[in-house]
Amino acid sequence: MSVRDDVLEILDDSRGSFVSGTELAARLNVSRTAVWKAVCALKSDGYNIEVSRHGGYMLAPDSDILSDIIIKKYLGDASSFYTLDVRDTVGSTNAEAKRLASDGAAEGYTVIAGRQTGGHGRFSRQFHSPDGGVYISVILRPSLSPADSVLMTAAAAVAVAEAVEAVSGRSASIKWVNDIVVDGLKVCGILTEAALSVETGMLDYAVLGIGVNVTEPSDGFPDNLRGIAGSLFSRTDASADARSRVTAEVLSRFRGYYAHLGERTFLDEYRRRSYLIGECVTVHSGSSSTPARVLGIDDSCRLIVEYDDRTTATLGSGEVSVRKTAKL
Ligand code: BTN
Repeated sequence: MSVRDDVLEILDDSRGSFVSGTELAARLNVSRTAVWKAVCALKSDGYNIEVSRHGGYMLAPDSDILSDIIIKKYLGDASSFYTLDVRDTVGSTNAEAKRLASDGAAEGYTVIAGRQTGGHGRFSRQFHSPDGGVYISVILRPSLSPADSVLMTAAAAVAVAEAVEAVSGRSASIKWVNDIVVDGLKVCGILTEAALSVETGMLDYAVLGIGVNVTEPSDGFPDNLRGIAGSLFSRTDASADARSRVTAEVLSRFRGYYAHLGERTFLDEYRRRSYLIGECVTVHSGSSSTPARVLGIDDSCRLIVEYDDRTTATLGSGEVSVRKTAKL
């Protein structure tokens, strides 16, 4: 780690209290000038660091910056799998990760941003990606057929739902196939995009994209998302490192499921957290909308539905979208 990273780690551990330059220099075995340069670098990266008249430094308690150092602190053993590339704002982390993957970036390379200006979701829909959220794209190189790529999305959905509960204490459901719902509002969307190897017919790489609304955006949600999108915390009740912590909790849990993807260790939990099983829905496919009841989710993460005429069908996530309707 660099002196900058070491200084940030110590200031974060003492967040809200001053640490003297002398103590920092002694603990890191560097000069006070090196500490000062590190603090200047952190400040120019946007960290809110106060400097006391007596030469002490303090990371402000409410300094909410997405940081690779803080994410790594919470990542634990999974840290060795990931290479974190944390940015302030990007067009789309998925687009950036796809570009890097096709240039040869290794599995585990992860682009993380605090805002996206061109985030996208399923069926090329726009994904609103304001401040307060965290937008994550992980490059994966699994030995998987295209049909099985939905397993990555489903494993990630369980990882996010568990992470949401661990950090916010609020219970999270999974709306097949890729949305996380808290109190009836969507707090996260997941989009896995992949490139095929023409020789093998298997995936060359996949990019797993996850967008979580951690804190309410500073301008609120736009009118078209009111009553649809929600966030884990209000602007006043999130801890300063909430976005870094959510990121780490998601990534470490996903790593565990991904290591045994073929065994589907996530699947029982995916079904248990289903927002749709037993519910009445409308199945949208092309221009048609058909009412149905959801019976279950099969081992390939397809939705099993029963239509009003009692016929059943298994639906793949690439073909249809499903909306919950009120029970009659
Ligand atoms: C959806 O709701 O349809 C899926 C939304 C997926 C959004 C994430 S945010 C990180 C990554 N970058 C993108 O442009 N999209 C995904």
